[in-house]
Amino acid sequence: MTRTSIKAVIPAAGLGTRFLPATKAMPKEMLPVVDKPAIQYVVEEAVAAGSDDVLVVVGRNKNALANHFDRVTELEHTLAQKGDDSKLEKVMAASRLADVHFVRQGDPLGLGHAVLRARKHVGNETFAVLLGDDLIDARDVLLSRMIEVSRTQSATVIALMEVDPSHIHMYGCAAVDATGEDDVVKVKYLVEKPAAADAPSNLAVIGRYVLKPEIFDVLEKTEPGKGGEIQLTDALEALAADEEIAGPVLGVVFRGRRYDTGDRLDYIKSNVLLALDRDDLGPDLSAWVKELAERL
Ligand code: G1P
Repeated sequence: MTRTSIKAVIPAAGLGTRFLPATKAMPKEMLPVVDKPAIQYVVEEAVAAGSDDVLVVVGRNKNALANHFDRVTELEHTLAQKGDDSKLEKVMAASRLADVHFVRQGDPLGLGHAVLRARKHVGNETFAVLLGDDLIDARDVLLSRMIEVSRTQSATVIALMEVDPSHIHMYGCAAVDATGEDDVVKVKYLVEKPAAADAPSNLAVIGRYVLKPEIFDVLEKTEPGKGGEIQLTDALEALAADEEIAGPVLGVVFRGRRYDTGDRLDYIKSNVLLALDRDDLGPDLSAWVKELAERL
């Protein structure tokens, strides 16, 4: 089966203040998860779902991101001379993944504004947005399913996941209706980061979106919302409220493994969980974790 390629947009212009001082001179998307920067997992996910063109919306400290997806001939040459093929492969992998482009966000006016900065690059096509704080386990399917749902139903598609009600205030939250498909819901309306008492459900928006180009006109008109920022959730809410604009907004409910690297404690947990799964690190780490648990 040949798949038509879809452009992917990765907003990476946040200030990363939760990780200061590590993020003083480096974007948070470059923080390693085990031994790979978080953003490389996200680009790999986009490529696996059929994207060969990735636009990263960058803020300050753009260079580390651009360098990571570029060739580094001196290092490649040294490793090649040493015959260290395994390390050479690791160095070259990121530069071979996809065409990676960069655009500056300019003023940090929010996620909706970052997505709007992709307008020229994306043009009049459906595109995917992936947020770097959410890592989806490569063994579980999410984005390709969302693209399939978007194509078959001509819909805007967001990723939803059930969370503990005490955590819903950290996410966009969706009020939904069931559809005939177990993993697909129809979004009735959306609220950005509601208090637990006001949340219409425990379905949180996680950082994957398949958006139709009509979103750009809506974003142009979206006023600053929660936190004084132009919220992507508010633009999606406008689409859900008026299907005439771009058809329905659907949610794909994800029940797989997701790692939150945007929060310090969850970031540490993500590193441990992903390292435990690795053949080279898992056995030793697992023995140490058991030993540590006995000591605590
Ligand atoms: C953003 C979105 C929010 C979504 C979250 C997922 O918030 O605004 O709706 O639930 O990403 O990670 P942020 O975490 O950037 O504040």
